[in-house]
Amino acid sequence: MSIKIAAICGSLRAASFNRLLLNAAVKLCPAGATMEVVEWADVPVFNQDLESNLPESVKRFKAQVAAADAVLFVTPEYNYSIPGPLKNLVDWGSRPYGTSCWSGKAVSIMGTSPGKYSGASGTGRAQYHLRQTFVFLDMHPVQQPEVMVTDSPGRFNEKGELSDEFFQKKIPENLEALIKLAKALKGAK
Ligand code: FNR
Repeated sequence: MSIKIAAICGSLRAASFNRLLLNAAVKLCPAGATMEVVEWADVPVFNQDLESNLPESVKRFKAQVAAADAVLFVTPEYNYSIPGPLKNLVDWGSRPYGTSCWSGKAVSIMGTSPGKYSGASGTGRAQYHLRQTFVFLDMHPVQQPEVMVTDSPGRFNEKGELSDEFFQKKIPENLEALIKLAKALKGAK
C-alpha cells in the first residue's frame, strides 16, 4: 500500500529556505509514498467565533490533511519557537473540538535556519515546541533521524536545489521512518 503524506511549509516567504527544503523532500520521497504540498496562505487568523461557520480555506486545508496518512512539517524557527502563522494553522486544524484533522496521524518535522555559529540549532527549538503540541493533538512523531539544517544559504545551489550530501541522505531516512510509522498505525504491512 502507498502512504499519502501531506507536507506543510511553516514559512510563507516567497524565497523561503524551508520551501526549498520541502521541495527537496518531495524529490527525495522514497517509493511507497506520495507527497502532496498543502498551500495555506489564505487561512485567516484564528478566532473561535468563526468555528460555527468555518472559512472555506480552513475546510479545504483540513480536508487535504484528513485525507493523508501522515504529515510532514518543514518549518523555520521564530524567536526560538514555532512561527506564529504555523501555530495558527495547527490550531485551526484542531478545531472545532472533536473534528481535528491531526488526530492519530504519523508526523515528522524538518527545518532549516541560516545561523551557523554558536547557538544555531537549525530550527531545533521550534521543532521541540511543535512536538509538544503533538501530545495534545494525539499525533505520532518520528523520533530519528532528526533533520535540523543550519547554515541554509550554504546547503542549496544557485538553482535552489539541496546540494548538501549529508542531508540528501538524512531526508529520505527520515521519510522512510515516517512511512514505516504510518503503515504501522494503519495496521498495514
Ligand atoms: C527569525 N529567524 C530566526 N532564526 C533562528 O534560527 N532562530 C530564531 O529564533 C529566529 N527568530 C526569528 C524570528 C522572526 C520573526 C523571523 C522573521 C526570523 C531567522 C529565520 O531563521 C530566517 O529568517 C529564515 O530564513 C526563515 O525561514 P525561511 O522563510 O527562509 O524558510
